[in-house]
Amino acid sequence: MTVTIVGSQLGDEGKGGVVDLYGDAADVVARYQGGDNAGHTVVHDGEKYKLSLVPSGAVRGKVGVLGNGCVVNPRTLFDEISTLEEKGLSPDVRVAERAHVILPFHRVLDGIEEDVKSEDDQEVGTTGRGIGPTYEDKAGRRGVRVGDLLDPDVLRERLEYVVPQKRALVEDVYGVDVEDLEDPDAFDVDALFEEFHDFGERLAAEDMTVNASAFLTDAMADGQTVMFEGAQGTIIDIDHGNYPYVTSSNPTAGGAAVGTGLSPNVIAEGEIIGIVKAYLTRVGSGPLPTELGGVEGDTPGYDEQGDGENEELATYIREEGGEYGTVTGRPRRVGWLDMPMLRHSARVNGFTGLAVNHIDVLAGLDEVKVGHSYELDGEELEAMPPTTEEWGRCEATFRTFDGWEEVDWSAVAAEGYDAIPENARTYLEYISDELEAPIYAVGVGPGREETVVVENPTE
Ligand code: IMP
Repeated sequence: MTVTIVGSQLGDEGKGGVVDLYGDAADVVARYQGGDNAGHTVVHDGEKYKLSLVPSGAVRGKVGVLGNGCVVNPRTLFDEISTLEEKGLSPDVRVAERAHVILPFHRVLDGIEEDVKSEDDQEVGTTGRGIGPTYEDKAGRRGVRVGDLLDPDVLRERLEYVVPQKRALVEDVYGVDVEDLEDPDAFDVDALFEEFHDFGERLAAEDMTVNASAFLTDAMADGQTVMFEGAQGTIIDIDHGNYPYVTSSNPTAGGAAVGTGLSPNVIAEGEIIGIVKAYLTRVGSGPLPTELGGVEGDTPGYDEQGDGENEELATYIREEGGEYGTVTGRPRRVGWLDMPMLRHSARVNGFTGLAVNHIDVLAGLDEVKVGHSYELDGEELEAMPPTTEEWGRCEATFRTFDGWEEVDWSAVAAEGYDAIPENARTYLEYISDELEAPIYAVGVGPGREETVVVENPTE
């Protein structure tokens, strides 16, 4: 069977913890999109592991697969594997030959393009990992795939085609002298060939490359459980998110089929679990109708804000929830839960169950608000509109819930759902009713044992 884990909001919903928890019963944990822009922390045997590319299941002895829909930076891949090995683990990571390779110039271009856009306040606030430029080359049919690293002739041919174009783009369009860059070798065919051919040899020597579609189909035919670990979230999906403030891949459930080579029937026969953070956070730019308090440089019109009370509340939630980027360390913008966003997300993904995280972070507040619907041009909207311009004009209509008290959350996790404070259960049941999906798990603390498991789809 399969279990697909999808972020229902803007990323950072705490997917890692749920993957970690349910992943126990999985044999294979596969990623289907994104690259080393995804940060997750796994705590295992008292040791903390920060991973951005390697599927978190690899820490627990599962086979980790990076599907064809991923973009793979081999530098990060081997760094993360070495770190795990230094701590005594033997991660088994397989990489799809159809996945695209992030080359050093992609990172350089990511940075330059963000700088140029920032002159007109149009930057996306990317993680700077070269994700967008790599997917651009994939769509432009000039990318280098993992399989190409295994064949020196093909690798050289591909680099000889693409590198001069990138050099010209940087020099002639952006007016940047490549020799002035920190890493001028990023635009040197011979240097790139040497480094990436070595990566290819290592991938081959360690038998790490696979045809993901065949590999996963065989695993399932053997009766193995496959978990699909979505990175980022629905509202930063390139198709269904808040374009252009999106990542360049499809974190939504459909991406699990396209990004691994399994049929949509296979994904649909399994479970699709939406991960919901009990409030909202956002890294980078773009509208956020339920925003409480912003971050300078990210929140549009930040300077004109200045609602002291909300700003204080946002700071409180940011600190309580540790809302700082795992990859970048940037403070996250904070808002109340946004139901029009979640209704859109539920429709796009077809959740069979929900895991709601971080309800402990909201404990102790007198009241907790939820953006129940939007008002746009005098009309009430139940789901977020498709354009960013319209979304930016939406005013949230709030519902207020009574707050819940601070309790011993570890004891709650041990006792089960009924031990969750009543007002918090009312809040959870509202979310479940609105999204027409049952609550499978409730995150009540950062540790993996601090989760109330109502339903384990792998059992
Ligand atoms: P990119 O994925 O680096 O191209 O960044 C594009 C947008 O997605 C930016 O707004 C990032 O902040 C956001 N983003 C990318 N990865 C994550 C993530 O793992 N969590 C939250 N936001 C992310």
